[in-house]
Amino acid sequence: MKFGHFSDSAREYVITTPRTPLPWINYLGSEAFFSLVSHTAGGYSFYRDAKLRRITRYRYNNVPADSNGRYYYIKDGDTVWNPGWQPTQTELDSYECRHGLGYSIITGKKNSLTAKLELFVPVGDNCEIDRLVLTNESDAPKSFTVFSYLEFCLWNAVDDSTNFQRNFSTGEVEVEGSTIYHKTEYRERRNHYALFTVNTPIDGFDTSRDAFLGAWRSNANPEVVENGRCTNSVAHGWAPVGVHQVNVTLQPGESRSLIFVLGYIENPEDEKWAAPGVINKTRAQAMAARYATDAQVDAALAKLHDHWNTLLSTYSVKSSDEKLDRMVNTWNQYQCMVTFNMSRSASYYESGTGRGMGFRDSCQDLLGFVHLIPARARERILDIAATQFPDGSAYHQYQPLTKKGNMDIGSGFNDDPLWLIAAVYAYLGETGDYSILDEPVDFDNDHSLAQPLLEHLRRSFGYLRTHKGPHGLPLIGRADWNDCLNLNCFSKEPGESFQTTGPSEGPVAESVFIAGMYVKYGNQFAEILDSTGHTDEAAAVRAEVAEMEHTVLTAGWDGSWFRRAYDAFGHVIGGEECEEGKIFIEPQGMCVMAGIGVDTGEAVTALQSVKDKLDTKYGIVLLQPAYTKYHLELGEISSYPPGYKENAGIFCHNNPWVSCAETVVGHGDRAFEIYKKTCPAYIEDISEIHRTEPYVYSQMVAGRDAATFGEAKNSWLTGTAAWTFVDVSQYILGIQPTLAGLKIDPCIPHEMDGFTLRRVWRGATYEIVVENPDHLEKGVKAMTVDGKPVSGNILSPVPAGSTVQVKVVMG
Ligand code: BGC
Ligand code: NOJ
Repeated sequence: MKFGHFSDSAREYVITTPRTPLPWINYLGSEAFFSLVSHTAGGYSFYRDAKLRRITRYRYNNVPADSNGRYYYIKDGDTVWNPGWQPTQTELDSYECRHGLGYSIITGKKNSLTAKLELFVPVGDNCEIDRLVLTNESDAPKSFTVFSYLEFCLWNAVDDSTNFQRNFSTGEVEVEGSTIYHKTEYRERRNHYALFTVNTPIDGFDTSRDAFLGAWRSNANPEVVENGRCTNSVAHGWAPVGVHQVNVTLQPGESRSLIFVLGYIENPEDEKWAAPGVINKTRAQAMAARYATDAQVDAALAKLHDHWNTLLSTYSVKSSDEKLDRMVNTWNQYQCMVTFNMSRSASYYESGTGRGMGFRDSCQDLLGFVHLIPARARERILDIAATQFPDGSAYHQYQPLTKKGNMDIGSGFNDDPLWLIAAVYAYLGETGDYSILDEPVDFDNDHSLAQPLLEHLRRSFGYLRTHKGPHGLPLIGRADWNDCLNLNCFSKEPGESFQTTGPSEGPVAESVFIAGMYVKYGNQFAEILDSTGHTDEAAAVRAEVAEMEHTVLTAGWDGSWFRRAYDAFGHVIGGEECEEGKIFIEPQGMCVMAGIGVDTGEAVTALQSVKDKLDTKYGIVLLQPAYTKYHLELGEISSYPPGYKENAGIFCHNNPWVSCAETVVGHGDRAFEIYKKTCPAYIEDISEIHRTEPYVYSQMVAGRDAATFGEAKNSWLTGTAAWTFVDVSQYILGIQPTLAGLKIDPCIPHEMDGFTLRRVWRGATYEIVVENPDHLEKGVKAMTVDGKPVSGNILSPVPAGSTVQVKVVMG
């Protein structure tokens, strides 16, 4: 069952009923000002940091779901309704929400009045524009009243939702003309405020939530709206809100647009005040003036569309499979941008208050983003590396506003350091910009400890080289990629964090998964060293890697698949001898991607075991058999009911690893089959089972052990976005940026005749035609560049600005 459909020409998902299984959201903004917007106009805004600079208030886990946002009420006679249905839930005559790239358009119609709400954050500005276009479709004049409504958050979202004894007394606003200014704490240590304005004289306002809603009411039935008249309340403490009243009369067929702007302003310390107690509004007025007319808003929207079209033209495919094209050309890359911006901080499942930017998460997000805006990837790499500790280990998270490591989760996740190598390699492959390796970068954000970035990579690899356990495999520390495999934790107390309890390091527990990473990213590090003239060091790294490969094939091999780990007692995890958790997905994908056992057969055997033991119709589960009881020695993984999350859920993030691995051994059919099982466009028809948005990946789909097999959770902010893009763009379609050049090595389903692809790489455009006349799954027989045959399948860089025609024949 579907609740909408894709519009490929507009690059939109069109939702046709407000009654979706869950709120289906979109993200506005991709630089500093961000908004989450659901298909019913729910959600909130923040500046850079969803915890520290929250602009509007949202209530997570509320009933009914998703009941705060930027709401526009229309009072037309006795009928009060919202174009997005919420929060009044007045039945609409028609409803539609189009989620597009950086904008959403919600249109509701009631009693011959159409209200179209366009929401977006303009490129290069710190505000959200909500343009409400009202059209009288009846044949008589219509008079009605529009009320806007949003609730301001008192900046720190955690404090805002906990520290009521203070916060009920601090709220302050100013109202001038049609603009409401939220200035809580501006009198003391803040130099920022928010504004909410509309481009027309208003007929009233409210800034006190109590005055607007009325006692004992909710945003579903505000008293002011019912009465049809604002009270011009000025908030003193309690809950400041922004409400405008605009009375409208429209002739038959007439339209009128109201442009609302929610903005964020910072003033320099010495320009804070216009008069004692009166904020300096110069910047706010300039912002409002930038979006005062339809022409200005149209221009800003056009700029946003251009921005996205340019970005997405970097990689686009045309094949015979419209779902593949739709995901590759639009939605997968779009989600990569969102995960790059948000890491795991703010979604409808991440409250924006818990986690900042993840070290490993951001490094992986970058793999799917770097081709879009390499300069931002460069900056991100330097920010992340600056949080690394001098010994090569890393803070697990950092705060985007301060860019400082965040002690909430601390460090000791031993996969973290190696992801930095992955990110830097991807950046170098994309850009060829080796200057980044010479950039001085702090350790632990301490400038006196700065070293060139290359030294950071050296310490990353070095940390794992010097932290091995009894079998010679890397020590796992608090956990590796699987945050829930907490082998040194031994937590018995309810509520203790599995990620911070117990020692950060134990001398015995080891990870085969990190060993796979050590080989894959160790080889990449060696390539980087070679390319920068450090050939002896490269050889030494390769020797280390070879030794680890051998260790994986001995201590890490279980007979038919790669083992997962050794626990703190040296017992096998992920082996035939285990009662539960005999086989895990992660090492199969990572070790084969690293090339381990490819020549000697273990790789194919391991992938066959995945197919036999872990595969389901909705994707590959993380492990089998699921843990049915809590294992003290394993930690959080066994805390989840069977089939959910890391305990045998279909953890979408590592499905593409197996798909990539299948291409490494030449299985194009199977790689694509895996790709399709979790890919949103291919499962749109089961939206009532899947329940999350059908245009983006979710972190997890309940596995076959779960009561709700096939149900997804935690949409949007997942490393799945980046890894599936890497899978489909580099491994399946096979366009791989490497240090040696742009490698073309497709591995596709045999029935595919080929495809055409446009790739902008290092400033030049490659128009690539891949033909598959013999219906193979992998192999390049011949390649021509501008009609001339070339040997091999690696394209060298050409001058920026040029266009190159490439023809590839598989064989
Ligand atoms: C786990 C969470 C954990 C989180 C943080 C998730 O996948 O299931 O319980 O807190 O990762 O890293
Ligand atoms: C979500 C976390 O953000 C990510 O870092 C981790 O790898 C996965 N969960 C698996 O535990």
